[in-house]
Amino acid sequence: MGFGKKMPKLRIGDLEADIPIVQGGMGVGISLSSLAAAVASEGGIGVIAAVAIGMLEPNFNKNFGEANKRALRREIVKARQMTGGIIGVNIMVALTDYFDLLQIAVEEGADVVFIGAGLPLMVPETLLADGLGKVRTKVVPIVSSARAAKVIFQYWKKHFGRVPDAVVVEGPLAGGHLGFKKEQINNPDYGLEKILPEVISEVKPYEQNSNVSIPVIAAGGVFTGADIYRFIQLGAQGVQMATRFVTTHECDASIEFKEAYVRCRKEDLTIIDSPVGLPGRAIQNRFLKDVSLGKKMPYECHWHCLKTCDFESSPYCICVALTNAKKGNLGKGFAFAGANAYRVDSIISVRELINTLSREYEEAAIAGAYS
Ligand SMILES: Cc1cc2nc3c(=O)[nH]c(=O)nc-3n(C[C@H](O)[C@H](O)[C@H](O)COP(=O)(O)O)c2cc1C
Repeated sequence: MGFGKKMPKLRIGDLEADIPIVQGGMGVGISLSSLAAAVASEGGIGVIAAVAIGMLEPNFNKNFGEANKRALRREIVKARQMTGGIIGVNIMVALTDYFDLLQIAVEEGADVVFIGAGLPLMVPETLLADGLGKVRTKVVPIVSSARAAKVIFQYWKKHFGRVPDAVVVEGPLAGGHLGFKKEQINNPDYGLEKILPEVISEVKPYEQNSNVSIPVIAAGGVFTGADIYRFIQLGAQGVQMATRFVTTHECDASIEFKEAYVRCRKEDLTIIDSPVGLPGRAIQNRFLKDVSLGKKMPYECHWHCLKTCDFESSPYCICVALTNAKKGNLGKGFAFAGANAYRVDSIISVRELINTLSREYEEAAIAGAYS
C-alpha cells in the first residue's frame, strides 16, 4: 500500500518542493519570515508578502519606499537564515513600488516571485534573464481567469520570448482582494473547479511549443488534504493555501488576529468594497460595519502605495487598517480571510497542519483508487 498515494512533489523549473503546497502571500505583515520559513522547512513553498511591509518599520512615514525595501530585504534574509527550503515573495502589480520590490526579491535571491492583483505585463529585465542562470528567480503570475492567463502568456512570448514559470489560478473563495466582480463571486461559472481546467487548456500549447512544464497551481478555498487531492485530479500540479496557515503558531499575525479566525462563524465572512477598487473577503467586525454606515476614519496619505487606491475619497487607509489588525488592534482595522475561515477551530503548528493535510490526501487517494 502507499504506492503513488503520497502528495506529489511540485516542480517549477529546477525548483523542487517536496509537497505541492504553496503558502499564499498574506499582507499586510501576516506572512513574513516566520511563517514562510516554517512552511519551507516542511517541504512546501513559503511566501513573504511584500505589500506595505515597511508599515512595520519605525518612522516608515519618513520614507515609505525605503522602509518597504529595507523590511522586505530583512525578511528574506531572516527566512534564509531559518531554512534551507524554498522561499518566495508575493508582490502586487498594483503597488506603486512594484518594480523596486521585485528588484529586492531578485537581489536577495528569492527562489520565486508570485505576482498578483493585476496583469504582470512589465517585468524587469533582471527577472527575465535566464539561460546562463545568472538570475534564477522564477516568476509566477496569479490569475483569476483563462483570459488573464492568455493575455500574460501572449504578451510575454511576444515581448520577452519566454513565458511564466508557473501560474496560480485563484478562485472566488480566496481571502483578501478578489479578481472577480461582486456578482461573479457566487456564480458557479467562475468557481475554481471551472476556471482551473480553462487555465490549464490555455497554458498547454505553450508547454508543448516550448517543451517545458508550466505547472498550474490552484488557490482559493483549498482547506483539506482531500481538497488538494481533488484539485490535483483536476490537473493542478499544486495548491496555494493561505487561510489555513493563519491559525498556526508560526504565522506572523498577532494572537488577536488568529483568534478572530478561530471565533468567526460562516455568516461573519463578508465581501467588502476595498478602497483599492476590488472586492475583498474579510471577517465582519465593528470597524467594517462603521465603514458601511458611512463613517470616515480620516488619515493623511503619505505614500499612495496602491496605484488603484482612491485615497482622496476613501473613508479609511487600507494599509493602516490591515497593519492595525496584524498587530492585534482589530478595533481600528479588520482581518482579510478566505471563505473557509469559519472551519478552523484551533491554532496549531505548521508541522501539525502539513501532517494532517498529508494524511487526508493519502486517505482521499486510497479511497479514490478503490472507488
Ligand atoms: C489575510 C490574507 C491576506 C492576503 N494578502 C494577499 C496579498 O498580499 N497578496 C496576494 O496576492 N494575495 C493575498 N491573499 C490571498 C492568498 O494569498 C491566497 O491566494 C488565497 O487566500 C487562497 O485562498 P485560501 O485563503 O482559501 O487558502 C491574502 C489572503 C488572506 C487570507
